[in-house]
Amino acid sequence: MSWHASVLTLFPEMFPGPLGQSLAGRALRDGRWSIDSLDIRSFATDRHRTVDDTPFGGGAGMVMRPDVLDAALGAALATGGDRPAVYLTPRGRRLDQAMVRDFVAGPGLVLLCGRYEGVDERVIEARGLQEVSIGDYVLSGGEPAAMVLLDACVRLLPGVMGAAESGVEESFSDGLLEYPHYTRPADWQGRAVPPVLLSGHHAEVARWRRAEAERITRERRPDLWARYTENAAAPGAMDGRPAAA
Ligand code: ADE
Repeated sequence: MSWHASVLTLFPEMFPGPLGQSLAGRALRDGRWSIDSLDIRSFATDRHRTVDDTPFGGGAGMVMRPDVLDAALGAALATGGDRPAVYLTPRGRRLDQAMVRDFVAGPGLVLLCGRYEGVDERVIEARGLQEVSIGDYVLSGGEPAAMVLLDACVRLLPGVMGAAESGVEESFSDGLLEYPHYTRPADWQGRAVPPVLLSGHHAEVARWRRAEAERITRERRPDLWARYTENAAAPGAMDGRPAAA
């Protein structure tokens, strides 16, 4: 069975959405991954199909019920593979490329998209949900975050990226941001392409790109730069790479 994502949501019609287009969409049609969205509301048991209730202790907003979410999670987890169950929430661990690589190495994901003020804490504990955030801002629901996470995963699945889109040299693959790219025309609105790129000298081009990637990382992301230089200081970490500029 291919890498499979189950999305638990109150808005199942949002999926695959943008993931049905472009690279992820082609991979979906090619059977390299699959997705199903489960309507959380269909697991409600009362006449009104209630999925949320007022918070104990008072306060604004509504909280998603643990019994309904547990039934939905149980149904999703029963369908194939020993997949991690992830709850998308701004209080989760921040998503990064290393986490994406881990998820891709497994059989797929079960993604819980919350709405309202949150979900009852007990279902997070009982199901051992992994809480994941896509960044320090608040979305109105987990659905766009689930799409971001899935897009990042799907492009790394075997056979999804061709040589043209290959992620070998891209941002984060070695802890650096990407170097600048240029194409024709060589002169555009009085702006020339860096001459080294027209030199045909592959080693010089590689050196320039590495230096630019390092400059951009140092200027824009001191956090990534610090980690990169720490790793570079470790014995063997710089094997096969040009020295820092
Ligand atoms: N739900 C709402 N905001 C979110 C965020 N930043 N990351 C993941 N899930 C969310």
